[in-house]
Amino acid sequence: MRYPSSLNLVVSLTTGLFALNMTAHAASFSVQSPDKQLTFTISDDHTQPKYQVAFQGQTIINPSSLGFDFARAPSMRDNMYISSTERASQNSTWQQPWGEAREVTDHHNELLVTFADKTAKATQYSVRIRVFDDGLGFRYEVNQDNARYITRELTEFSIKDSDKSQAWWIPARGWNRYEYTYNTTSLHEAAHVHTPFTFKNNQGVHMSIHEAALVDYAGMTLNQRRPGTFVSDLTPWSDGIAVKTNGQFKTPWRTLQVGDQATDLLNSHLILNLNEPNKLGDVSWVQPGKYTGIWWGMHIGNHTWGSGKKHGATTERTKTYLSFAAEHGFDGVLVEGWNVGWDGDWFFNGDVFSFTEAYPDFDINDIKTHADKVGARLIGHHETSGNVSNYRKQMNAAFKLYEQAGVTQVKTGYVADGGNIKRIDERGHARFEWHDGQFMVNEYLGNIKLAAKYKISINTHEPIKDTGLRRTYPNWLTREGARGQEFNAWGTPPNPPEHTPMLAFTRMLSGPMDFTPGIFDMGFNGLGDKTNRPQTTLAKQLALYVVLYSPVQMAADLPENYLARPDAFQFIKDVPTDWEHSIALAGEVGDYVVFARKERERGKYAGKDWYLGAITDADARTLIVELDFLSSGQRYEAQIYQDGDNANWQQNPYALEVKKQIVTHKDTLSLNLAASGGTAIRFKAL
Ligand code: NOJ
Ligand code: CA
Repeated sequence: MRYPSSLNLVVSLTTGLFALNMTAHAASFSVQSPDKQLTFTISDDHTQPKYQVAFQGQTIINPSSLGFDFARAPSMRDNMYISSTERASQNSTWQQPWGEAREVTDHHNELLVTFADKTAKATQYSVRIRVFDDGLGFRYEVNQDNARYITRELTEFSIKDSDKSQAWWIPARGWNRYEYTYNTTSLHEAAHVHTPFTFKNNQGVHMSIHEAALVDYAGMTLNQRRPGTFVSDLTPWSDGIAVKTNGQFKTPWRTLQVGDQATDLLNSHLILNLNEPNKLGDVSWVQPGKYTGIWWGMHIGNHTWGSGKKHGATTERTKTYLSFAAEHGFDGVLVEGWNVGWDGDWFFNGDVFSFTEAYPDFDINDIKTHADKVGARLIGHHETSGNVSNYRKQMNAAFKLYEQAGVTQVKTGYVADGGNIKRIDERGHARFEWHDGQFMVNEYLGNIKLAAKYKISINTHEPIKDTGLRRTYPNWLTREGARGQEFNAWGTPPNPPEHTPMLAFTRMLSGPMDFTPGIFDMGFNGLGDKTNRPQTTLAKQLALYVVLYSPVQMAADLPENYLARPDAFQFIKDVPTDWEHSIALAGEVGDYVVFARKERERGKYAGKDWYLGAITDADARTLIVELDFLSSGQRYEAQIYQDGDNANWQQNPYALEVKKQIVTHKDTLSLNLAASGGTAIRFKAL
């Protein structure tokens, strides 16, 4: 069987081998999605391997090149013809140990095409294509001794009707990694972009290019070399090579999600389906949940990471936070700044961080005793400031210390400008790498694998983008990889009102994000402050818990701000972080989005409640939502947290109305969202 996994239930599987006449030219093969809406065609016309894609009978990707250039081997560009093909298909379901949905359906048709060089017959590669109803993926499989140093991957995405298409994007290879506000432009203006790269054509077809299963390879960015033609631009090593291999490699899947409407992109499981099943075995120790932290206080300047009078991470404060967390049903407390190395400008302290030595006012044993007593956990933190060699030397000892302290989750951090990750090479020389090059792709995954040995789960900040590896390594819980809430603490500028409805259709297509919602005090610098404050209403902060999926969600604000608003705080206490089903009900990229999610059943606990989150950009709007997702024959108490009359993010962010009404699946709700507002609802099964 080709899909061995205890979790995979193979419903149907067919294969066939088709060997071609070696002299035949201009061969062309197609593979379609199970619903026949999406067609991928690959050919060797004029000995140039190319593919194209059609959706509902219309071309969406024009003929686009495939291939590689190598440093010490002939290119795989032209002179290639199709030498064999093989077909397979699959219709199965598998289960996520935690996630936005328990069950995932993997229904696809597969085509494996092998190209061989006409003159040097030894040169060849295969392209494996899988076409699903929600999109497709293709990857190269190469097995050729001299194909060791890839200088360029030649994969193109040549967008049909590019002059009439619109795109939403952040720039690639910049100093601030993935932490930019999104641009909304014509497709032609998207010069060099990160993936997921979301765009729509003039027919309203929404698409997103990304990659799945990025392992031991460089991250792919997209470079618009000619109008409408994006070329894969692999982030190189410091020595200029894109990817180093032993000649036998599979690239990550190059993915294209496609739908008639924007929400189709959100209801897709393509990226997860193209990753390999869980490799960690029993992962019952990986726990979703909610946390608070000694964190926001540092970002708004109340406390410091470094030692001194304003030191945030003291034993006393940690105990107080642990008691607060336990009392209000949170699982853990993140503590940043407890370990030696933060003094001075910590951005540049990568060489001196200790991952085991505490500041004198932080006693980890005393804290463990208190944590055990009250029933909440310490959540660990490892900030590297980009010096990964210093971290790697201490990583084992660092995880061991946390294991002894009862820590099961660690947040990591790689604060350094793009291209400035410091590593010490085999000869003792400092080299500076990108966060999304092959070296760091391996470094991040190495951290996950080592953490798993200590039964520790990881939340990576300043990460490599997500490509669905949580399926294979379920202890990789979540990550940052976009502008999070922290930008609202120190401006430069803060996240604009459209930022979160934009994230839903861009960054979030890659996987969970630790955005850290839940700021209740928007006016820590006064509401008139144009840069240092969240540009949202209070109700929108609540709705983010449902909209921006993460298996671990932070209640990011200070405890006193939650105690001051028990009405709103109740929603954060109630909302789960692990789901049975999720449905994107409505939305447009960067404008608004509505999600409904059903809480997950766990053991004897039959979760029956549904939750809804709706958010909008700077425009107030009314959204009509049909409740037909609710179970028929079940009555629910809808606990609605909505923007009050006259609420708006600028002058009146705090106006919140909490109301209750009985509903069934036959009802319709009209949601009134204020400017940069939102609605959060718990449908409590009665
Ligand atoms: C950046 C992270 O995103 C943030 O959450 C953290 O507090 C700082 N680095 C310090 O590690
Ligand atoms: Ca960050």
